[in-house]
Amino acid sequence: MIGAGPSGLYAAAALLASEVPVDVDVLDRLPAPYGLVRYGVAPDHQKMKSVIRVLQQPFADGSRVRFLGNVRVGDGGIPLDVLREHYHAIVHASGSSVDRDLGIPGEELAGSHGSGAFVSWYCGHPDFVDLDPLLDHPGVVVVGAGNVALDVARVLARGHAEMAATDVPDRVLDTLRGSAVTDVHVVVRRGPEHVKFTPAELRQIGDLDDVDVLVHDDGVLEAGVPEPEERRQKQNIAMLTEWTAHEPGTASRRIHLHFLRTPLRLVEEAGRVCGVVVERNEVRDGGIVGTGEEETLGAGLVVRAIGYSGEPIPGLPFDERAGIVPNDGGRVPGVPGAYVTGWIKRGPTGVIGTNKHDAVETVAHLLDDLHTLPAPPHPDPESVVERLEAYGIDPVTWDGWERLDAEELRLGEARGGAERVKVADLAGMLAAARNAVEAR
Ligand SMILES: Cc1cc2nc3c(=O)[nH]c(=O)nc-3n(C[C@H](O)[C@H](O)[C@H](O)COP(=O)(O)OP(=O)(O)OC[C@H]3O[C@@H](n4cnc5c(N)ncnc54)[C@H](O)[C@@H]3O)c2cc1C
Ligand SMILES: NC(=O)c1ccc[n+]([C@@H]2O[C@H](COP(=O)([O-])OP(=O)(O)OC[C@H]3O[C@@H](n4cnc5c(N)ncnc54)[C@H](OP(=O)(O)O)[C@@H]3O)[C@@H](O)[C@H]2O)c1
Repeated sequence: MIGAGPSGLYAAAALLASEVPVDVDVLDRLPAPYGLVRYGVAPDHQKMKSVIRVLQQPFADGSRVRFLGNVRVGDGGIPLDVLREHYHAIVHASGSSVDRDLGIPGEELAGSHGSGAFVSWYCGHPDFVDLDPLLDHPGVVVVGAGNVALDVARVLARGHAEMAATDVPDRVLDTLRGSAVTDVHVVVRRGPEHVKFTPAELRQIGDLDDVDVLVHDDGVLEAGVPEPEERRQKQNIAMLTEWTAHEPGTASRRIHLHFLRTPLRLVEEAGRVCGVVVERNEVRDGGIVGTGEEETLGAGLVVRAIGYSGEPIPGLPFDERAGIVPNDGGRVPGVPGAYVTGWIKRGPTGVIGTNKHDAVETVAHLLDDLHTLPAPPHPDPESVVERLEAYGIDPVTWDGWERLDAEELRLGEARGGAERVKVADLAGMLAAARNAVEAR
């Protein structure tokens, strides 16, 4: 299994539950398991992270599933071809971590980030410890109408005191403490009936302390949008319609929901972003068309939350447009012994639980094929570890992860009121996993 996110761990559990006795290694490039549950699910959604209790089950004592963290497969790590010499089958569960671009001028400016990078920063992902986003301007623009856009808007609108009770690293908390952000503008290209927010997440921004939510919809809600078929869309429309009556109050911060606006370009001042020019759209024949009318939203930070793409895996086919490995129910056509599951299989949509039936399907196909797959030249589990060592890789075991976990829980207690505080830098994670240094 390559990837210890939800899809890899659900697949490991499905293999373990089968009647075929199989040994499973779960490799992850990070010393910590859980993928986006750890590095995507918002820090103020700690309850959601309790799914970890289910995801960790395959690693119970005496199980045939082994965790090999700190093992990158591919460039800069162990080549896939080498790994294939050790396993009958390899399931790729590496997710979709590449931020999609808007493809508009100014996107490369300082202060402009994809949600993958920005969320990874506040979640303490070791690749993004140095992102240091600019929160020194009152305005922020978040582009997108999915739950990730709402997560980003909510985290930026919450007071830092509330964030101190979460697992964000100290450095992130310091940046949030110094934040000058008062107005978060969420820019949605289509109408209120098309948003992908889930009602629970939308309701949450309305319930934030000391935050007003203001709807900018050019009057389309009052005029009446076509009745959506889905229940969740109806709930969204009801909530948004109620909020159209909101006037700016006395709250310290505001979240603005701007509908029917397409970002055209980012505006630069002194080498960094200072605003976003958007075009007003109208709905015609069920689609949106630009009106040519432009307006500028002031922003010192722009986060595009418009979806992700997977990374191509050397040796496997890749669909650049969809950002996935083409597959047939998880089988990679033309590559015997190669399987995919989760976001790299079906694209970057779906909640944690969606990955369970997806993994079950892939594993069922793998087990059907097992008798046809040639035995690898080096099936002995110890041979993998020796091979990794030959590539200069010192894997973090499940015990190592548990030591890192214990250190983060200790840091949480030390902060007071936080269940855990993430160790974000890779050297610190490895040191804690190996008990190599005094806990910080
Ligand atoms: C910002 C954000 C917030 C979300 N919040 C929620 C939420 O609150 N509730 C909810 O239900 N769903 C949420 N989701 C959706 C949920 O996180 C996904 O459905 C799920 O994580 C996808 O699982 P995955 O295993 O396919 O990918 P991932 O979770 O991304 O796991 C992929 C794993 O593969 C590893 N990996 C990648 N490349 C390599 C390599 N070359 N070698 C070794 N290892 C590698 C990565 O380190 C990672 O651990 C959120 C998604 C995002 C983006
Ligand atoms: N709490 C939770 O349960 C939670 C939290 C976070 C994420 N998730 C899940 O994780 C998955 C990923 O979430 P996501 O928010 O990244 O994806 P998403 O739900 O697919 O939303 C992506 C948004 O980006 C917009 N978009 C795409 N390209 C654009 C462009 N060029 N210009 C402007 N807007 C553009 C889309 O608008 P159009 O609709 O117009 O294309 C859409 O609103 C989802 O399934 C989500 O539900 C769940």
